[in-house]
Amino acid sequence: MNTLHEYATIDSLRAALAVHRQAGRRIALVPTMGFLHEGHLSLVEEARALADVVVMSIFVNPRQFQPGEDFEQYPRDLAHDRALAEARRVDMLFIPEVTEMYGGGDEMRIVPRETAARWEGEFRPEHFEGVLTVVAKLFNIVQPDVACFGQKDIQQYTLIRRMVEELDFPIQLHLGETMREADGLARSSRNVYLTPEQRVQALAISRALRAVEGAFEQGELDAAVLRGIARDILDGEPDLITDYIAVVEPERLAPVEAVDAGSVVAIAARIGSTRLIDNVILGDEDV
Ligand code: PAF
Repeated sequence: MNTLHEYATIDSLRAALAVHRQAGRRIALVPTMGFLHEGHLSLVEEARALADVVVMSIFVNPRQFQPGEDFEQYPRDLAHDRALAEARRVDMLFIPEVTEMYGGGDEMRIVPRETAARWEGEFRPEHFEGVLTVVAKLFNIVQPDVACFGQKDIQQYTLIRRMVEELDFPIQLHLGETMREADGLARSSRNVYLTPEQRVQALAISRALRAVEGAFEQGELDAAVLRGIARDILDGEPDLITDYIAVVEPERLAPVEAVDAGSVVAIAARIGSTRLIDNVILGDEDV
């Protein structure tokens, strides 16, 4: 398949997917909120290698934004997204309106517990409930064989993995590595909010992660020491306010005292009104 087909309703998408399923084709889902960048597009490439048909959803999900967050201002450019999706050979684009996604009612939610309460959850209390609810809906609508998510949102991915395991979704998950600008800044749709000066200061986040990774490779396993290395670099940028430096195990993102390969170091920091997150999996070749 090569021509991009677009669907705005659940029924029309399901009817088209039924044809592929009957033909025995494997279906991959790449869920996004649009304003596509290389992070999303590299997931499409990986999805193509894992399945016959690539479905991308573009839906800015109001339920995962806290009151006062940037739901209204969240960058949107559907025409550009369509062009990029077509160029990267997405087969099916699902672009529902809010009424299509949530027209069925407002009573039900997927409510995660422990893993969602920490880190991002402390700063965005209902965020993961909104994420998991929309992802569960997308899984039910598309019924993909495989679904692809980016490592930048590691807590989101961890919770989706838990949801798939605990609620028995018959779906394989694929984690795509974080895509970065040439200077190391993790690709994010929200990077457009940064002024040139803020962007320079924001580089301290990936610099801190690189330094932690380097120290780990030199044999440093003490989480407090690694956190201190990151803290010193982040504190060097006066306008950068660190929300957390998490040094955690990968299953539930609980803090650890000593790291090993597979431990996750995640940072969230604010600059002006923009909140940025990034992370590294120790022992991985990232950053
Ligand atoms: O990562 C995102 O862009 C969103 O959280 C997702 C997974 C598309 C759900 O709205």
